[in-house]
Amino acid sequence: MCGIMGYIGTEKASPIISKGLKNLEYRGYDSVGVAMLSALSGSLEIRKGVGKVDDVQNQLKFDELDGNIGIGHTRWATHGTVSRENSHPHTDCAGKVAIIHNGIIENNIELKKMLLSKGHRFSGETDSEVIAHLIEDRMNSGDIGSVDSIGSVDSIGSVDSIGSVDSIGSVDSVGSVDSVGSVDSVGSVDSVGFVDSVGSVDSVGSVDSVGSVDSVGFVDSVGSVGSVESAESTRFGSCFEDACRWAFGQLQGSYAVLAMVEGADEIVAVRKDSPLVLGQADHGTFFASDVSPFLEWTKDVIYLQNHDFVVARKDSLRICNLIDGEVDRPVDTVEWSVEEARKGNFEHFMLKEIFEQAETIQKAIQQDREVVDRIVQMIQEGFGVFFVACGSSYHACMTGSYLMSKIAGVHVNVVLASEFENYEHFLTDRTLVFAVSQSGETADVLDAVKAAKRQGSKIVSITNVMGSSLSREGDELLMMNSGPEICVLSTKTYTSQVIMMVLLACALAGEDEDCARRVKELYMDVHNLTSKNMRERLRNLASLLVGKDHIYMIGRGLQYTTAMEAALKVKEVSYIHTEAFAGGELKHGPLALISEGTPLFVFVSRENEDRIISNAQEVKARGGYVIGVSDWDNPVFDYWIKVPDCGNLNPVIQAIPLQILAYELAVELGLDPDKPRNLAKCVTVL
Ligand code: F6R
Repeated sequence: MCGIMGYIGTEKASPIISKGLKNLEYRGYDSVGVAMLSALSGSLEIRKGVGKVDDVQNQLKFDELDGNIGIGHTRWATHGTVSRENSHPHTDCAGKVAIIHNGIIENNIELKKMLLSKGHRFSGETDSEVIAHLIEDRMNSGDIGSVDSIGSVDSIGSVDSIGSVDSIGSVDSVGSVDSVGSVDSVGSVDSVGFVDSVGSVDSVGSVDSVGSVDSVGFVDSVGSVGSVESAESTRFGSCFEDACRWAFGQLQGSYAVLAMVEGADEIVAVRKDSPLVLGQADHGTFFASDVSPFLEWTKDVIYLQNHDFVVARKDSLRICNLIDGEVDRPVDTVEWSVEEARKGNFEHFMLKEIFEQAETIQKAIQQDREVVDRIVQMIQEGFGVFFVACGSSYHACMTGSYLMSKIAGVHVNVVLASEFENYEHFLTDRTLVFAVSQSGETADVLDAVKAAKRQGSKIVSITNVMGSSLSREGDELLMMNSGPEICVLSTKTYTSQVIMMVLLACALAGEDEDCARRVKELYMDVHNLTSKNMRERLRNLASLLVGKDHIYMIGRGLQYTTAMEAALKVKEVSYIHTEAFAGGELKHGPLALISEGTPLFVFVSRENEDRIISNAQEVKARGGYVIGVSDWDNPVFDYWIKVPDCGNLNPVIQAIPLQILAYELAVELGLDPDKPRNLAKCVTVL
C-alpha cells in the first residue's frame, strides 16, 4: 500500500526520491507525487499524477527539480477516487506546507469539519489532507503557550504572542513579534526584527542586532547589544516543528507522515501503526516505508517506534517519542543486499523469487535452537494455540495446523486475522498466539496481536521483515530469512512459512534432526521443479487455460490447503476465477459448477490417493478436464504435472509448479505478474 520516500542531505534529492519511488512500486499504488524544496528559489514545488512511476515522472520531469530536500509518495486509494487531486503530497491552503501520509486518519471527518469552519479549503477527498491544514492552522494561530526552554533556533518568523518562557538558548534571528510575556533568561541572539512589546525579562545575554522595538517592559540585566538594525526576513523552523507536533497529536488512526514547509530546511516525521524507517548515510537522511528503497545508498537503518517524532536537517537528526520523551534509537545494519532486491537477469521478480526457493527453504529451517525450544515449551505449558494470518500466510497456517495435528498431535486454532475478534473471548494469559505475516505490517494481523496482548496472551511473531511492526511485537520472534520479496504475490515466503511450520511440529514431536535432514534433501527436488523443462510444460498448460473463465482445484488434508494456496496464486495474478474445495465437499455443492471442459486440478498424495481420485472421477464423468499434481500418472488425468512425493513436505513441492503456472498465465495474458491490479504487497489498513 502507500509508499513513502524522503531525503534531506547534501545530494540532489529528486533523483533519489524518483528511484526510491520506483523501488516502492512493489507495494502497490495507483498514483505518484513528489514535493521538493528548491535550493534556488526557496519555494516548495509539487508534482503529482495518476499512473506508473516511470510515466508520471517522465511526463512531469521529477528529475528536473532542484534542491536537497524532498518527499515522495505512491498512493493506493482508500479514501477518495484515484485522481491527481487525491494523490500525495497534499498541501495547506497557502501551498506552503506539504505532507505525505500512509495509513488512515480515522477522525478525518471531524477534523475536516473543524478546519472548514475556520475557512480552510480542501482540494481533494482524502483523509490525509487534514494533516497539512492542521499544521497550517497551528502555524497561523501564532499562539505559543508556555514553553520550558527553547534550544538553539535559526530564525523566528512572525508570532502573535509568546506566553511565559523559562529560558531561551541561542537564536540566530527573530522576525516580528507582537508581544512577549515574561522571559526568565535569553542567551545570545544574533538579530531581532520588529517587536511590539516585551513584558518583563530577567536577563538577556549578548544580542548582536535589534530592529525596531516599540516598547520594552522591565528588563533586569542586558549583556552586550551590538548594532541596532532593521528586521531581516523571517523564518520560523521551530514553529513548524511545534505545529507538526500539535497536528500529529490531533490524529486518530494509523499514520506515517512526512512534512515539509517552505522556508525551513527540515523534514518532520511521525509514525503510529504504519511503517516508517530511517536510513542514515554520510550525506544525509532517508525516510521510507521499508528499507528497500534506499538500500543502494545505505544499509544503516533506524527502525522507528510508534509515536516517534523525527526532525531531520541536513546536518542533524533528532528523534523523540511523543509519549515517552527522549529516546535513543539504535542504528542497525540491514542484511539484505541490493542485488536481492533487484530483478537481475529475470524478466520479473515473481519468477526470480519462485526460482530462489531451493535456497530460501534451506534458510527458513535455520532457526535459533533455543528460541524454538522456548516456543515448544510455551505450547506445552500453555492452554490454547492460535495461528493468525491473512492470505497466503493464512494458508501456510492452515497447512501448519494439519502438520501440528499429524506430526505432534497438537490442536491449533487457525483464524483469519480479520475474523480474530470473534475469538477474543477465548484468550487468556495462557493462550499462545502465532502471528504470521511476511511483511510484518499487515494491519489485520497487528490488530489481532493487540487484542491478544490485551488479554495477556503470549505472542510468537513469524515474519520476513526485520524491524517491521510485527518483528517488535512478539514475546518470541522467528524470521523467515527469505530475503526481500518484491513481487506482490507471496511465493518464496509462503514455502518458507510452511517449512517453519514443519520445523515447529517436528520440534514438538522431538523429530527435529530428521526434519532438518529431509529439508536438506528437498533442495534438489525444488531445484528440479524450477527447471527449463518444467517451465515449458507449465507454459503449454497455461496456453490451454487462458481462455477459461473458471478453474477449480481440489485436495484432501495437506493437499487441500495446498489447493487453497494454488487457487489464490492463479486468481490474483491471472484474474481468472479460481476456487479450491476440499475433495469431500465437491458433491455437497461445487459439482454443480462442472460442465464440459471445466478445468479441475487434483492435488494427490499417496496417503489420500483413493478418495481424491474418486472425486476426480466424479468431475471427469461430468465432462471436466482433470489436471493431476502427483508423483505418478493416473488414467483419470487429462494432463499430469509430475512432482516427487515428499510426504509432509508435499505442500512445498506441490505449490511450486502452481506458482510457475500462475506466472505463465499472467505472461500469456499480457499482465504484469509483479503488480496485479488492485492489490498491495503491504496491507497496512484494516
Ligand atoms: C498472496 C499474498 C497475500 C498476502 C496477504 C498477507 O500472494 O501475497 O494474500 O499473503 O496479504 O500478507 P502478509 O503475509 O504480509 O501478512
